[in-house]
Amino acid sequence: EPRKDFAGKRVLVSAGPTREPLDPVRYLSNHSSGKMGYALAQALYQRGAEVTLVSGPVSLSVPYGVRCIPVETATQMHAAIMEQRHHADVIIKAAAVADFAPAEPGSIKWKKTREDDVPTLSLTRNPDILHTLCQSRQPGQYIVGFAAETHDLERHAREKLQRKGADMLIANLVGADHGGFGRDENTVEIFTPAGSHGQFSGSKIQVAHAILDQVAMQCTVP
Ligand code: C5P
Repeated sequence: EPRKDFAGKRVLVSAGPTREPLDPVRYLSNHSSGKMGYALAQALYQRGAEVTLVSGPVSLSVPYGVRCIPVETATQMHAAIMEQRHHADVIIKAAAVADFAPAEPGSIKWKKTREDDVPTLSLTRNPDILHTLCQSRQPGQYIVGFAAETHDLERHAREKLQRKGADMLIANLVGADHGGFGRDENTVEIFTPAGSHGQFSGSKIQVAHAILDQVAMQCTVP
């Protein structure tokens, strides 16, 4: 039976990928399974938090006790997070938000009209939700970001922590030999502006509890 160290805390978690439509039947996305964010939501509920999960499309069931707001695109995720953030003591952005979206998604399905027809894709930048949250944070709000990297983990993590202005950054290596996307295990390293707080490996639920131990230790929300 876990400690109820998040009792009375309202926590907003984002999880999963976003889907950026090309036309009504196609989209750009990424390999995020949502498992890390869902594990965090589950662990938070077990530890007494009131949890709101803003989730991109995933094939997981919503953990017991968690309120879920489903979204598809980065723009929808941005809107949902901005609407929900006012109530949150802690925000954890585990979602793999697409950085770019097709500039002019077709309202009808793209067709191959000729044998040599190759469409040109032009993209626009999506809003950086984490950056926006941090730049306009409410007093006392504790904001945690994630960084999935294939190389130079520590350098990218420290740079991202600073650039986004987050209180904590959870760095995980993704790619060939590592945990991360789609897997049930993960290895993360936790950074705050004070430095590294260590590496943690295990099932995503174990890693979620390790992350929450650090958040509980760091954040001084009354
Ligand atoms: O810049 P990068 O995507 O690597 O940063 C990852 C962190 O920023 C994650 O916490 C992710 O949820 C968040 N993010 C965001 N909005 C974006 C891109 C990333 O909130 N458009």
